[in-house]
Amino acid sequence: MEQNKNPLLTVSHLAIDFETRSGIVRAVEDVSFTLNKGETLALVGESGSGKSVTAYSILNLLDKNGRLAEGEINYHGMALHNADKQMLSEVRGREIAMIFQNPMSTLNPIRKVGEHLSDMLRTHGFPSFSTISEEITKLLHQVEIYDVERVRNAYPFELSGGMCQRVMIALALACKSRVLIADEPTTGLDVTTQKSIMDLIDNLVKKKV
Ligand SMILES: Nc1ncnc2c1ncn2[C@@H]1O[C@H](COP(=O)(O)OP(=O)(O)OP(=O)(O)O)[C@@H](O)[C@H]1O
Ligand SMILES: [Mg+2]
Repeated sequence: MEQNKNPLLTVSHLAIDFETRSGIVRAVEDVSFTLNKGETLALVGESGSGKSVTAYSILNLLDKNGRLAEGEINYHGMALHNADKQMLSEVRGREIAMIFQNPMSTLNPIRKVGEHLSDMLRTHGFPSFSTISEEITKLLHQVEIYDVERVRNAYPFELSGGMCQRVMIALALACKSRVLIADEPTTGLDVTTQKSIMDLIDNLVKKKV
């Protein structure tokens, strides 16, 4: 593997097993990659090849019957494969944020977009209402949502799929994390919206470098 001076996340020889009724099944074997600062890394593979479980394993979010059978995951000098609950909760969101495949199942249907964002900001240390409100506007602008008032007062089901995905990205940005893992953030969207979400993520990465 190519050695780079500035590795942020290194996955080495990862293997993931699932305990199933018919025994232990190895879903991922010998996966290695390095993500450097400012880089975008894409996992490509057919359905069922293990892209999602590889991503989940980084933050120890595998289903209960899954486990990291072999390998190491290192983030910024931290051995995530051996991390305890406290280390994981410090890394989740704060250092590494994740956008899931289906925003409708991640966003709480009875909470408005503004409430989702303010919860996230409060979790990440924004104390006062006025700074939170300003930050929400900033975040929505970053994901190219300009009718801020309408969107922050909307429930997820009142928004289009593309809009919801933008809100998910805004939530991830609210964490100010250094790594963003996006598990097929455009599945289920039409091709034009897919392109605009990918362009948006691309631009955000470029701005952050
Ligand atoms: N909880 C589980 N129990 C048993 N097997 C599982 C479990 N979760 C995932 N797997 C298996 O792990 C393998 C990898 O699944 P994964 O969801 O990572 O695929 P993927 O590459 O993300 O596919 P897609 O492109 O369809 O999203 C699959 O064979 C899947 O059946
Ligand atoms: Mg997947």
